[in-house]
Amino acid sequence: MIRPATVMFIALIGSSQALAGDADNGKRLFNQCVSCHSVVANTPKKVGPHLGGLFGRKAGSVADFAYSKALKDSGVVWNEETVAHYISRPSDFIKGGKMAYAGMRKDSDRDDLIAYLKEATK
Ligand code: HEC
Repeated sequence: MIRPATVMFIALIGSSQALAGDADNGKRLFNQCVSCHSVVANTPKKVGPHLGGLFGRKAGSVADFAYSKALKDSGVVWNEETVAHYISRPSDFIKGGKMAYAGMRKDSDRDDLIAYLKEATK
């Protein structure tokens, strides 16, 4: 038998996916990335490439950054889906890549982070 609480839970999951991500929460979540990434171009070098102009950018295309061959040759173009896929588990999406980040597993967190990134990396 399906209990009412289960139905509520499913309804909540469904509705949260229909909503756009929460950019304020995304900004907070970016604390997990900020030690290695800047959201704008022309900032002092960090461990990872800057993310300025990320959406629509070809993977591995920041000129003076030493990417892994795996990322450079991936043929990926960054959009909402590819970024979400990558940050959910970087080592699965780009096998042999060198981003030392375990992954952001929660769908809603990734939605929020991407909502923030879309604004901040423009
Ligand atoms: C420990 C440092 C580190 C952390 C933490 C980190 N990254 Fe990265 N990131 C890297 C490195 C290094 C690369 C280059 C990977 C390669 O060459 O394989 C990279 C690559 C990327 C790229 C591809 C950029 C391009 O130019 O193709 C994106 C997008 C990205 N990271 C997003 C994120 C986000 C979002 C987070 C936080 C959830 C994050 N990263 C956390 C180091 C990090």
